[in-house]
Amino acid sequence: MKPTRDDAMKLLLEYNESDALIQHALQVEAAMIHFANYFNEDVDMWSVVGLCHDLDYEKYPEEHCKKTRLILEENNWDEEYIRGIVSHGWPSCTDEKPESIMEKTLYTVDELTGIINAACLLRPSKSVLDLELKSLNKKFKDKKFAAGCNREIILNGVEMLNIEKNIVFEETIKGLQERAEICGLKGNV
Ligand SMILES: [Fe+2]
Ligand SMILES: [Fe+2]
Repeated sequence: MKPTRDDAMKLLLEYNESDALIQHALQVEAAMIHFANYFNEDVDMWSVVGLCHDLDYEKYPEEHCKKTRLILEENNWDEEYIRGIVSHGWPSCTDEKPESIMEKTLYTVDELTGIINAACLLRPSKSVLDLELKSLNKKFKDKKFAAGCNREIILNGVEMLNIEKNIVFEETIKGLQERAEICGLKGNV
């Protein structure tokens, strides 16, 4: 079946209690919605895929992506959604490589939104609304900053997308700005 956002939200809350993980899901969703519009693709599908991409991570970190595939199959989700989600774990958690534009986007913005989130929390405003590309680039270059966010994956993803890195970064910031409140990045601006 083609899941709705409500279906996705229900599953997300069923499998996740951590505020940080739910916020991460909402941030990745925000970026996915923005890029779906940017590429003129299916906004509803990209939103659902963003929300549920780390569905299994809290309860089954050792089986990341693999467990999500089983859960979504049990829920009769269409393969396009399942593959879309699972391929973000390539190559460490799955052999399914990102192929479609949706998969390549998810692969890229997953780690990138992580750096943006960390960068925002350090700002006096605690907000993405006044975050500029220049300061994101500075944080990106500082390997010690948000060291858990894999720069290599981001650069690899940018290359897959075949779009200039600064454009990908800028559009991702925009996506988070558009949904700043819902994804916890409004801060005190
Ligand atoms: Fe993941
Ligand atoms: Fe993630």
